[in-house]
Amino acid sequence: MTQAVQLKPEVPLLSINNIEVVYDDVIQVLRGVSIDVPRGEIVTLLGPNGAGKSTTLKAISGLLKTENGEVSRGDIHFMGERIDVKNAEDVVRSGLFQVMEGRRIVEDMSVIENLKLGAYTRNDGQVNQDIEMVFNYFPRLKERIGLAGYLSGGEQQMLAIGRALMARPKMICLDEPSMGLSPLLVKEVFGIIEKINREQGITMLLVEQNANYALKAANYGYIMESGKIVLDGSKEMLLNNEDVKEFYLGGGNEKRKSFKNLKSYKRRKRWL
Ligand SMILES: Nc1ncnc2c1ncn2[C@@H]1O[C@H](COP(=O)(O)OP(=O)(O)OP(=O)(O)O)[C@@H](O)[C@H]1O
Ligand SMILES: [Mg+2]
Repeated sequence: MTQAVQLKPEVPLLSINNIEVVYDDVIQVLRGVSIDVPRGEIVTLLGPNGAGKSTTLKAISGLLKTENGEVSRGDIHFMGERIDVKNAEDVVRSGLFQVMEGRRIVEDMSVIENLKLGAYTRNDGQVNQDIEMVFNYFPRLKERIGLAGYLSGGEQQMLAIGRALMARPKMICLDEPSMGLSPLLVKEVFGIIEKINREQGITMLLVEQNANYALKAANYGYIMESGKIVLDGSKEMLLNNEDVKEFYLGGGNEKRKSFKNLKSYKRRKRWL
């Protein structure tokens, strides 16, 4: 006779529980956002400009304080530990690294110096070995020996991801890695993100406007609009959802622009 085994549901690696974020004590941007990121998975957070995606990432990585923002309600746990009360450096030490929007590399330093910056929280003597590991993922960075400021946009994005790897994180949050890249480079960068996830087992939270690529890479997705999660589901569910197809996976920008008004009307009806 088979016996029913009671499996404990696994606690997500990162768990955002009903957070609100306020800037300058008055501007409320997030209104009760909850997101779970299971260990080893890629989860994507999608949404239009100004939805609150970067704010969500800054809340996770302790970067709100530098912008006079705060998590005014709810909490965030990483590996069972509460992190919304920690400063940015302690969050990195706990194993969570953010690749910020716009790449933020140090332009007047070399590629190798930038990579070493990523390892500042470590003192295990394996930094040189890890630089080689980064060059394995991004071979073209190895050929660029000048200042990082001379790198192309795609190469700078690669350097920013490489620098995150240097921290040996358990999880990386990426803010719009596809921004400003050609379609070919977007494909390449996403391919490497998936490879890193697969080979290093690093959990990823991927913020994107490019839903096509993000949903291919991710296992699960959340859609945020005006500071709220309006829809979430598995990759398959979202790829087959009519609204997602129409507004996030649809054809060119032209079509999307002309649907703008209809879009907010329909969404209110269907999702909110
Ligand atoms: N430091 C700040 N002070 C006040 N308001 C802010 C601050 N940063 C962001 N906001 C506001 O919060 C809202 C969400 O911004 P956020 O950058 O999180 O959006 P986003 O989804 O990342 O947008 P995008 O796709 O354009 O990057 C916007 O209305 C923005 O103007
Ligand atoms: Mg943003």
